[in-house]
Amino acid sequence: MGKYKLLFAISIIAIGLMTALLASINEKKEEKEQLQKVPQIERWETKNEEFRKFYPREYDSWKQTKESDAIEDMLKKYPELVVLWAGYGFAKDYNAPRGHFYAVEDNRNTLRTGAPTDENTGPMPTACWTCKSPDVPRIMKKDGDEEYYTGKWAKYGSDIINPIGCVDCHNPETMELQVNRNYLNEGLKAEGHSVTLENATQQDLRTMVCAQCHVEYYFKKTPLTNGKTAMAVTLPWAEGTKVEDMEKYYDNINFSDWVHPISKTPMLKAQHPGYEMWKTGAHGKNNVSCVDCHMPYTQEGGVKYTDHKIGNPLDSMDKTCMNCHRVSEKSLLDNIKEKRDRKDELQAKAIKLLSDAHFEAGKAWEVGATEEEMKPILTNIRHAQWRWDFAVASHPAFFHAPEETLRVLGTAIEKAGNARIELARVLAKHGAADYKAPQITDKKQAQELTGLSLDKSIEEKKKFQNGLMQDWKKEAQEKGVYNPESTKGIETKTSY
Ligand code: HEC
Ligand code: HEC
Ligand code: HEC
Ligand code: HEC
Repeated sequence: MGKYKLLFAISIIAIGLMTALLASINEKKEEKEQLQKVPQIERWETKNEEFRKFYPREYDSWKQTKESDAIEDMLKKYPELVVLWAGYGFAKDYNAPRGHFYAVEDNRNTLRTGAPTDENTGPMPTACWTCKSPDVPRIMKKDGDEEYYTGKWAKYGSDIINPIGCVDCHNPETMELQVNRNYLNEGLKAEGHSVTLENATQQDLRTMVCAQCHVEYYFKKTPLTNGKTAMAVTLPWAEGTKVEDMEKYYDNINFSDWVHPISKTPMLKAQHPGYEMWKTGAHGKNNVSCVDCHMPYTQEGGVKYTDHKIGNPLDSMDKTCMNCHRVSEKSLLDNIKEKRDRKDELQAKAIKLLSDAHFEAGKAWEVGATEEEMKPILTNIRHAQWRWDFAVASHPAFFHAPEETLRVLGTAIEKAGNARIELARVLAKHGAADYKAPQITDKKQAQELTGLSLDKSIEEKKKFQNGLMQDWKKEAQEKGVYNPESTKGIETKTSY
């Protein structure tokens, strides 16, 4: 090749490269301009796919919560739970949480929400939707909190339809973080917390958005001036947020979620006090937010954004833990395993003691124990089960707050043990000293033993899924609040 030909070829390549570079800069610029076109989304737009054109990275990573789709049947894993929750919905169906993408789907499919046939039937109140969807704050705004909390769950079947998404944590007009549910701030104020939504910093908000849902709550029966009764989501924090404080709160108002059919104990069901437990751990005390671990900053090309695939931070330790810790990933993983094993050891003991205590109390009633004899025993059972539940229902509190988890489980074991010592005395007094509580082997056996038959519930549920539930989706589409494309191809997964 001649000298000039070579120069010519080099020039062509250089021009080509520059054109490509310019095109890429232009593309970036266009994307930037598109991204800067805020606000263009309506205040109460709850269809998550509508955000994609402005925030593709956040949307796409949010959508990846769909990948966490495995169902883990907790009743199969710990069959004694069927005894602990006998007479309550959780004994029918209870799975470990999975991706946010499935929140509405799972709420409709669980046997706990029953099989309504119209808007006024079914066991659950409207409040049961509260932590599942951005449509909840939309409806709260439209109908007012009081109306939202009135009536049956089925009343909002065609309104609450999109899974946990953008409007749960953002104001779409500015995309600033925003808590859109009033009860959280009411709870913080009742507690007398120094931080409320009025003075929360950005770092505080990075926990508060999660605390809208990952907290302990109950449905407070509230008579309204219009004669109706609201069942309002309320955080029981007025005495404080430790396990003893909330126990005192519930005891003071004589609240119980249900009465256990075997032991006749007025029971409490802990929800998921994840935020409250986090506060007591090393990270919470240092205000390391939920988002610092669950939504790390990510780099893509030259763009830095927040990863919206909320899941297990251990899947990307380089972006989470390793930002702050100088030890090896392996040593952190070993440490977490140890924490889990310690929790599992105490949790197994607590569950077994509680299962035995319910049966022994049932036997005591049967052989003629008096109310007076049983009262202190039932109080111990109530408190023991509440504490065990509090420690383990707050999901991996064994990691978020390891010492507190073990302390709470320790007091659960103490109280269940005390109940059983008293029960041994009462059983002996009434001639049943050699009674032995039945041993639990698997979920089915436990359900039979506690008189629970699911065949009818499952049949009715399927009828609901093929009937009313399909109508809800059609109506939601007609109202313009749902795009069926958004849930296309998802497989219904349940453990029944
Ligand atoms: C569970 C709460 C939550 C949900 C749901 C959520 N976000 Fe975010 N989002 C956050 C947090 C936390 C940040 C980080 C804020 C900060 O900088 O402190 C964030 C940041 C952002 C930002 C700012 C840029 C960035 O990446 O840091 C955008 C844009 C955004 N989110 C878009 C969305 C969109 C679109 C959706 C719905 C598909 C969505 N978010 C759903 C919590 C949420
Ligand atoms: C609107 C209520 C709501 C908000 C806000 C919310 N969550 Fe959740 N979260 C849920 C529900 C409900 C589930 C269980 C979904 C299911 O199993 O169908 C869940 C599940 C999870 C899981 C389990 C995911 C998996 O793949 O197993 C994690 C982790 C989680 N949330 C963390 C967070 C963090 C961190 C925040 C704040 C950035 C947050 N959540 C905000 C309601 C919420
Ligand atoms: C220091 C990091 C860190 C912080 C801060 C943190 N988490 Fe986690 N979280 C984790 C890890 C690690 C796991 C997984 C543990 C395991 O292996 O089970 C997890 C798991 C979870 C799960 C999954 C439960 C399940 O069973 O699938 C939920 C829900 C959750 N966290 C919510 C929160 C909330 C809400 C906050 C803030 C109040 C928070 N986390 C703060 C690290 C953190
Ligand atoms: C934003 C910074 C930050 C991130 C991210 C973070 N940590 Fe920490 N971690 C801390 C701080 C601060 C402490 C408290 C240190 C102290 O008290 O000396 C701590 C303490 C700990 C401890 C000892 C206390 C205990 O609870 O046993 C462990 C273990 C730990 N972190 C594990 C993790 C893991 C695993 C991750 C990732 C999932 C993680 N951390 C993410 C800042 C962070």
